[in-house]
Amino acid sequence: MIFVDACLGKPTPYTPVWMMRQAGRYLPEYMTVRKEAGDFLSLCKDYKKAAEVTLQPVDILGVDAAILFSDILVVPLEMGMSLRFAAGEGPVFDEPIRNLEELNALDVDKAVKNLSYVYDTIGLVRQELANDKALIGFCGAPWTIATYMIEGKGSKNYAISKRIAYENPALLHAVLDKVTSALIGYTKAQIKAGVNAIQIFDSWAAALEMSAFFEFSFSYILKIVDAIKAEYPEVPVIVFPKGISGYLSQIDGNFDVFGVDWSTPMGLARAALSDRYTLQGNLEPCRLYSKDAIKSGVDEILAVMRGVPHIFNLGHGILPDIPVENAKYLIKYVQEASAR
Ligand code: CP3
Repeated sequence: MIFVDACLGKPTPYTPVWMMRQAGRYLPEYMTVRKEAGDFLSLCKDYKKAAEVTLQPVDILGVDAAILFSDILVVPLEMGMSLRFAAGEGPVFDEPIRNLEELNALDVDKAVKNLSYVYDTIGLVRQELANDKALIGFCGAPWTIATYMIEGKGSKNYAISKRIAYENPALLHAVLDKVTSALIGYTKAQIKAGVNAIQIFDSWAAALEMSAFFEFSFSYILKIVDAIKAEYPEVPVIVFPKGISGYLSQIDGNFDVFGVDWSTPMGLARAALSDRYTLQGNLEPCRLYSKDAIKSGVDEILAVMRGVPHIFNLGHGILPDIPVENAKYLIKYVQEASAR
């Protein structure tokens, strides 16, 4: 698999490419299946439909890897928290976690077991996916998941989570520890079910100052990496802490790929990390509105990354109103322009 080879720093005939959030609302085919399923969580729980939308970007766009269709928040959901996706509002936990008693009511083992619909999706996708295409499994970083569990919804300044970080750090560590145990069981079960790599999404890494990022976020990401590597040393692990270009000199760990967000110049990431890690990224997602902007953006990134291991991706998720034609153009252009 060219994607897995690139993760492991082996030479590839061209730069493999996929897009974060590639299975989603910009695809009419996704909207059709989503309408049949009813709502977003029902789609995640219906393994046949989830497998179908996982495969759509491979069939429609020709990407080199599929990413499991699910969400980072199914883990706290199956630990016992009630979750809904409100139209226009995003995810909502109506009873957020604010103390130890509420945390103690959550169940790690139940979560790992109840997420069987995810493992069923993986089994079906792997059965139907071509042998040369990779299937990427994923989880959220404990910090990013914890912000939703604590705030109850998306947040502008993460003030409740960060207040706990400074006022009662032991409580935040307890939440992070519990979520980390669930994520270790969950990612290992995804690998057992057939994924070829794991990506850990830390979407809200940049909410934390540098020392807090390493204390409350990155150290927990590394616990997951180390647990996976202890049992599955050959399975690539990708970390994606978004928006922390100022902290790159301190980044170290036993993962294989570092995901670069669009606000970090690729040259800066190359200088800091390319001798140790494959880099993934990092086209600015809004360039997908214009074919000229796609072409110039791809040319620049490929030129900067020439000669070092690279997986092409967007620097964050694709937006729902991107023309499918432009997404197709991006994938084809990267594969052609990077051919060696
Ligand atoms: O990348 C993929 O195609 C795989 C599927 C995937 C989804 N969510 C599907 C989804 C993945 C990898 C995620 C990860 C995720 N979920 C993250 C980390 C990545 C990132 O974008 O930063 C986060 C922070 C979440 C939490 C989440 N889920 C939010 C904030 C929202 C609402 C915002 C939005 O885009 O509507 C979701 C819902 C969600 N997850 C959708 C999809 C396709 C939209 C649901 C729909 O209406 O169909």
